[in-house]
Amino acid sequence: MNGMNNAPVGVFDSGVGGLTVAREINRQLPNESIIYFGDTARVPYGSKSKDTIIRYSRQIVRFLQTKNVKAIVVACNTASAFALDTIEKELDIPMIGVVKPGAKSAIDHTKNKRIGIIGTEGTIKSELYTEYIHGIDPEITVIGKACPLFCPLVEEGMLHDSVTYEITRRYLDELKEQNIDSLILGCTHYPLLRSTIRDVMGEGVNLVNPAYETAIGLGEMLKQNGISADIGARPDYEFYVSDAADKFKSFANSIMPFEIDETNRINIEEF
Ligand code: DGL
Repeated sequence: MNGMNNAPVGVFDSGVGGLTVAREINRQLPNESIIYFGDTARVPYGSKSKDTIIRYSRQIVRFLQTKNVKAIVVACNTASAFALDTIEKELDIPMIGVVKPGAKSAIDHTKNKRIGIIGTEGTIKSELYTEYIHGIDPEITVIGKACPLFCPLVEEGMLHDSVTYEITRRYLDELKEQNIDSLILGCTHYPLLRSTIRDVMGEGVNLVNPAYETAIGLGEMLKQNGISADIGARPDYEFYVSDAADKFKSFANSIMPFEIDETNRINIEEF
């Protein structure tokens, strides 16, 4: 892998949500360059089948490889749950998803061994979070809840709207009654609703943001493979989408800490 150190990391998601992971990578690993792909033509992934998500993810990985990425981050919970295990076996570069780092952090923090997980229908039905948590500690009770309205609310920018609060309360009241002490925000968009979720769940519940843990995991993975960017390297960020490049760009500019001038649209079906 010599000479790869300053190559970019590929980061992909079904759309804008994975920017929460890219933002965290930028914060924790400021020398790393990123090629980001958001599959805005085919979002949402959360309601699609495993076979479809594997097919989409393979195409995206092939696209990212044309950009000579040194590693790939699956910044989408649904794709991490459905496609990561299959695709990482087909690749000769390291790959990390968001599910395992998030689950690991919840396991480390829970005291009463009761963990909640919220995500898309696909992520919750896959039970991958539960499987992974039980692989480490079978005594932990895991309670999953799909929150399908959260993604559209975030994409509409309704982060602090009274409607969002009401929907959050309806989804999460059930989890509150379950006496969980940790809640995994198991969907890329949900960290953007953190303050509303915090208000509803109360201070006693530890909210786990897998984006944060994934950036730590990526840093460790790059180090283990000897491919961390050089200290002082100037990072370069490129953004690609499969549709609606302008809408993506304005969303990205609202959450990334620097100005994004260009977002490129590509035909992902060609890969
Ligand atoms: N990025 C997806 C996830 O984290 C959420 C949006 C979608 O359903 O595609 O599961």
